[in-house]
Amino acid sequence: MKYIGAAALLLVLAGTSHAQAGDPARGSTLYHTTYRCTSCHGDPPNPAELGDELLLTQGTTAAGIQDAIANIDEMRIYKSTLASNAQDLSDLAAYIATLAPPPAANYQGLWWAAPAGSESGWGINFAHQGGIIFASWFTYDLAGKGMWLVMTANQTAANTYSGTLYSTKGPPFNAVPFNPAQVTATAVGNGTISFSDGNNGTFSYTVNDVAQNKAITREVFGTLPSCAAAASSASLAAATNYQDLWWAAPAGSESGWGINLNHEGDTIFATWFTYDLDGSPMWLVVTAAKTAPGVYTGTLYRTTGPAFNSVPFNPANVVATAVGTATFTFADGNDATFAYIVNGIAQKKAITREIFGGSGTVCQ
Ligand code: HEC
Repeated sequence: MKYIGAAALLLVLAGTSHAQAGDPARGSTLYHTTYRCTSCHGDPPNPAELGDELLLTQGTTAAGIQDAIANIDEMRIYKSTLASNAQDLSDLAAYIATLAPPPAANYQGLWWAAPAGSESGWGINFAHQGGIIFASWFTYDLAGKGMWLVMTANQTAANTYSGTLYSTKGPPFNAVPFNPAQVTATAVGNGTISFSDGNNGTFSYTVNDVAQNKAITREVFGTLPSCAAAASSASLAAATNYQDLWWAAPAGSESGWGINLNHEGDTIFATWFTYDLDGSPMWLVVTAAKTAPGVYTGTLYRTTGPAFNSVPFNPANVVATAVGTATFTFADGNDATFAYIVNGIAQKKAITREIFGGSGTVCQ
């Protein structure tokens, strides 16, 4: 039902794309008096009720209202009137848009300790889709070796997300084929992320009985994009900002490793989480600069640093060693190749965005 509605919406959208901007004041009169939308919908619409919630999300465009008239039995009364009145549709949509709640905050991107730079050397990426944040945390184990942990954190309260932290082992990054069945995950603790606003929060965790709290903020190295739920998979392909969690294509074929692309301005800072030749966790980073349309290249580094639980965490003790190069070549916003050389091993992987909630997230 919902799917048919979306298909109809696309057709209708194509026909009304030239409608002029609506007048919300006139739309209010249409809503209350002319068409008496209030005989079924709230005045004002109440987002806590399903019918009104749909009106607030779908009714902000003329096409959305036409779609409702075409699909909802109770609204057939408008088939011969409102449905073909472009001006009334656009004024009503403009009025409904003034009532719609602001879009939910999206926290997708790379975060690090606050204040910025205070603990340079570790970070945490959030891929945020719907009410789920998939976090990948890049830090160091007690011996100072690179360690990464991942967590699927579900929304538990407004602005709060919690989940179990996992450490994984798997086939070496250069295994051909990379067999996802050989990846093993071990729960090592849990984490909670709470946001005080769109750019600041707290990351609390317990890892093997170490309990700590870190103030975190976004890592800014260019123009920060803003991210929101993708309307459809077509909007992922159309995106020209590539910030997201990516993995091998086709989706799921090499589940167990991934790469977070953080795209600010013309720079992509990528954190690649995979496995060393002995199957232990390994993470590498690259600051890739744009070298041609859709092409980004840089040097891959592997780092060692203070253990995750060090207090203070001294960024001066982080040591980065160049191990090779990486190049990302985008065919479109959801389809790329990741070519790399690591310690002389050269490989190329097709990658795509990892979708785990709704249609995913688009940044721009
Ligand atoms: C006779 C009752 C009735 C009237 C009058 C009415 N609606 Fe609705 N409307 C509904 C019902 C029922 C739903 C679907 C609610 C549900 O699925 O639970 C709905 C849903 C919607 C939706 C969401 C459609 C979707 O895609 O899910 C929009 C938009 C909408 N109405 C706009 C309007 C507007 C604008 C008016 C006035 C021009 C109006 N409605 C008048 C009954 C009505």
